[in-house]
Amino acid sequence: MSSALVAAGQISFHLRLIRRPRNRASKGFPLFQKIGEHLALHQRLRQSLTDQGQEKADQKIRRNRDGFVIVIDDSAVHSHRQTGLPEMRTPSSLFAAPDSTGIGLRPPHYQQILRERPHVGWFEVHSENYFGAGGQPLHYLERIRDAYPLSLHGVGLSLGSTGPLDKEHLRHLGDLVSRVQPALVSEHLSWGRVGPRHLNDLLPLPYTDEALDVVCDHIDELQESLQRQILIENISSYVQFRHSTLPEAEFIAQVVRRTDCGILLDVNNLYVNGVNNDIDPETYLDALPVDAIREIHLAGHDRVGTLLIDTHGTRVAPAVWELYVRALDRFGTVPTLIEWDTDIPPLEVLLEESSHAATLMRARHALAS
Ligand SMILES: [Fe+2]
Repeated sequence: MSSALVAAGQISFHLRLIRRPRNRASKGFPLFQKIGEHLALHQRLRQSLTDQGQEKADQKIRRNRDGFVIVIDDSAVHSHRQTGLPEMRTPSSLFAAPDSTGIGLRPPHYQQILRERPHVGWFEVHSENYFGAGGQPLHYLERIRDAYPLSLHGVGLSLGSTGPLDKEHLRHLGDLVSRVQPALVSEHLSWGRVGPRHLNDLLPLPYTDEALDVVCDHIDELQESLQRQILIENISSYVQFRHSTLPEAEFIAQVVRRTDCGILLDVNNLYVNGVNNDIDPETYLDALPVDAIREIHLAGHDRVGTLLIDTHGTRVAPAVWELYVRALDRFGTVPTLIEWDTDIPPLEVLLEESSHAATLMRARHALAS
C-alpha cells in the first residue's frame, strides 16, 4: 500500500521531469551480440585450450541460452584469462538445465547452505546488499558463489529517473560483477530517485515515448558500463498513469528492440497487476518477445481488501502457479527463481517451492521434446 501512496504523491513531479522527446536511433548492445563475435570468441578459447595441450577442448566450452560462451572448470577459466578477454568465471551447467530453479539468498540461510549444500540450481541476491570491499555478507556470498551459479538483482539504480545514472552506484555494481561473475544481472523497470533523493520504493513509469527514451538511454549506459547484457523486470504496481500511450508489455518489447536487453518476467507481479490494474495477463504474455525472456520470478502476495500486495512473504499462490505454466508454454523452460523477502521461512520451504517449479519445468520440457 505504501507504494501506492508514495507513487500518487510523486506522479505529477515525475511527469514534469520527463521532458526529453527526440527521435532516437537505437545504438544497440555492442558486446557478443553478433554471431561472428560468438564464433570468434569460441574459436579463441578453443585455440587457447588446445595450445596448452588440454584434451577435449570443446567439452570445456558451452553456450547457454543467452548465446554467451560459458566455461566449465577452473583450468578453462585460467585459459580464458590468457585470451585477454574479460574474465568470465561463469555458471556451471546447472544454470542451463531445463529444470534450472534458484532461490533468493538471504542471510539467515548462509551457514546452512554452506554446511548442507542443498540441491538447488543457483542463488540470486540484491546487488546493493553486497556493495563495498568487505564485510561478512560479501564473505558468505563469495563462499557460496564458489559452489553455485549466481544472479545479481538490482533494486536501486532507478533506470526510469531522468538525469544521469548514479555513477557511484554504477561503479559499485561494476566492482561486484567483476568480483562474483554472475550468470545474470537484472534491474527493475521503475524509478525511485529524483536528483540526489532516493525513495525507498520501485515506482511505476508512465509508458510514453518520453519515458522510453529515458529508460533506453539508461539501459544502454548500464550495459556499456558493465560490458554485458542486463535484464529488466516488470514491477508490481497499484496505480497507472492515465496518459500512458503504450501497454506495459509493448513498452517492454520496444525497450528490448532498442537496447538488446533481456527480460526478467515476474509472473507474480503480472498476476498482481492483472487484478489491481485490470490487465489481461494472457494478452500481456503474448505481447512479450519470446527470445528475450531470460529469467522468471515467482513469489507470494497478500490480499488487502480488493488489492493484491506484492509482499514476497508467503508461498506462491495457486493462481500464480497456473500463470507460470502458461508462461512456460509460451517461453519454454526459463531459469526460475523463488523470491521471498519478508517473514523469511526455513530454507526447506524455499527449496520445496523451487522443487515444485522444477517439476513444472520438467513437465513442460517433456511435452516439448
Ligand atoms: Fe521479482
